[in-house]
Amino acid sequence: MRVAAVIGSPVEHSLSPVIHNAAFDALDLDWRFFAVAVPPGRAGDAVGAMRSLRLGGMSVTMPHKAAVAAAVDEVGSAAATLGAVNCVSWRGTVLVGHNTDGAGFLDALRRDEGVDPAGRRALVLGAGGAARAVVQALAGAGAAEVVVANRTAGRGAAAAALAGPVGRIGGPADADGCDLVVNATSVGLAGDAGTPIDPTRIGPGQLVVDLVYEPATTPLLAAARARGAVAVNGLGMLIHQAAHAFRGWTGEDPPLAVMSAAATAELARRAP
Ligand SMILES: NC(=O)c1ccc[n+]([C@@H]2O[C@H](COP(=O)([O-])OP(=O)(O)OC[C@H]3O[C@@H](n4cnc5c(N)ncnc54)[C@H](OP(=O)(O)O)[C@@H]3O)[C@@H](O)[C@H]2O)c1
Repeated sequence: MRVAAVIGSPVEHSLSPVIHNAAFDALDLDWRFFAVAVPPGRAGDAVGAMRSLRLGGMSVTMPHKAAVAAAVDEVGSAAATLGAVNCVSWRGTVLVGHNTDGAGFLDALRRDEGVDPAGRRALVLGAGGAARAVVQALAGAGAAEVVVANRTAGRGAAAAALAGPVGRIGGPADADGCDLVVNATSVGLAGDAGTPIDPTRIGPGQLVVDLVYEPATTPLLAAARARGAVAVNGLGMLIHQAAHAFRGWTGEDPPLAVMSAAATAELARRAP
């Protein structure tokens, strides 16, 4: 049996075990996936354990993404630019760290929503790890403009810089001219009734993506739909970033529908 794991602190809430174990079962692969709590500061030990135990793959969540980037043998280009790794796979005997959040976000846009960001204007709310991956991905996909609005201006500027010449910092008012509005802040997570932007700035013709997926319908998504926009949560990004990891570990085509159904069922089970 091959063993894979997600490391984080906290990690109990992670959907990765449910998603990957469902995929292993669907393809009849003799793999198991576990969530392992690794205390802050010990990510290097976890990478060492992956090496010595020859784990088949590792997912990485907060707060270890930067530390794992420093501990693996090599990093892929997105992970190198972002300074953050969300999954680790083997290339022969070399441990390679990747960041699949941006690719997962683009897959969710293109494959699930039929939207190609090339030539489009986007507003990204937030400037943390998820926002940075989205900004980089949108610019790489040929977005015409990527505007970043963040509570803390300095972090916003650093995130906007990841988009190169098409990036700039802005504010909520920039939603008016944007095709795509992405909430990459934690505003709207379960228990938070707030919205990261005044929804009256949203309207028909726009696609709103809330990277939050728990709850499935955030206050932002509900308000955006009421105002005539197409609005989707972050589950698609979660599934597609996991799919990239799965392919890197097993070499198999990920069973996307199975992974999505497993995550949806687990979220429904957890819903209050
Ligand atoms: N769907 C997916 O696959 C996926 C993947 C990763 C993350 N996510 C979600 O994306 C969100 C961000 O995750 P992250 O890893 O990027 O977190 P992070 O690095 O901690 O960044 C959090 C961001 O939210 C902003 N923020 C937090 N509270 C705020 C508030 N009350 N008002 C305005 N801005 C606020 C922060 O602004 P400051 O810079 O001013 O502090 C920062 O820009 C989370 O909800 C997470 O669950 C989803």
